[in-house]
Amino acid sequence: MSPRRIIIDTDPGQDDAVAILLALASPDEIELLGITAVAGNVPLELTAKNARIVCELAGRPDVKVFAGCEAPLARPLVTAEHVHGKTGLDGPVLPDPTMPLQERHGVDFIIDTLRAEPPGSVTLCPLGPLTNIAAAFRRAPDVIERVAQIVLMGGAYFEVGNITPAAEFNIYVDPEAAAEVFASGADIVVMPLDVTHKALVTRARNDAFRALGTRVGEAVAQMTDFFERFDREKYGSDGAPLHDPCVTAYLVRPDLFTGRRINVEIETGSDLTRGMTVADWWRVTDRPENALFIGDVDADGFFALLTDRLGRL
Ligand code: RIB
Ligand code: CA
Repeated sequence: MSPRRIIIDTDPGQDDAVAILLALASPDEIELLGITAVAGNVPLELTAKNARIVCELAGRPDVKVFAGCEAPLARPLVTAEHVHGKTGLDGPVLPDPTMPLQERHGVDFIIDTLRAEPPGSVTLCPLGPLTNIAAAFRRAPDVIERVAQIVLMGGAYFEVGNITPAAEFNIYVDPEAAAEVFASGADIVVMPLDVTHKALVTRARNDAFRALGTRVGEAVAQMTDFFERFDREKYGSDGAPLHDPCVTAYLVRPDLFTGRRINVEIETGSDLTRGMTVADWWRVTDRPENALFIGDVDADGFFALLTDRLGRL
């Protein structure tokens, strides 16, 4: 089976970094066409820098990295240094990138790639706020039907919010963008907190990263050592939730995940519940099913896959 051709749209972020590493470590299943950075966990200048740091950590300075939107469609940027540290990649000490940032804007790269590649051949993998995706769809509505699938990390239902009582961070930062993407008609797979909070880097799993004895293994162990503080404190979690790697793991082993096709709509009108993913899990409305909402993961299988693949870098 030929690899899935993808664009990763990202706001690194330690968990974004692990998702990118997993993609780069899986060339039989994933062909990474490019990375578009978006403002989210930290401002765009840092997310564009961090994406390149991760590519060079993986020994892949050839990957094309583009800077996308520096602010949400209609709101001031909210960042998450309290979770990811001031660099966005706190934990390991990694060298500044030497590979260049591409000249083209990330949104132009998304549009140009979808227009140039055969319809239905490119999958979009957003790991941060959906600003770049919505901007591309606004500027070039013709590309929407050319998207094979959108596999994104964002939202929550049973787990409710991690940035407010109602909203998950990626959706909260740019709810207008999320509302437009979820209403676009594209084939969407959602990795919400409901599943990502089941992918916890326990001590044993972190030790397995270190036991790889590689630069990548050590760097990932240090990233998740840093990144777990927030969730341990807030949720009493038994380790860092690997939110974004659920997206790239799904492309490699979809059988590790289970979910339900349901209607998901985004709250944009209320300050109290802005960015809430209103997921009709119990199908109490007749609103159209517009997303596969993932609720569970085989966590041991997920970490076995991740550790094996990281060991290949
Ligand atoms: O809420 C978790 C999401 O927000 C993850 O994608 C994390 O990287 C941050 O972007
Ligand atoms: Ca992210």
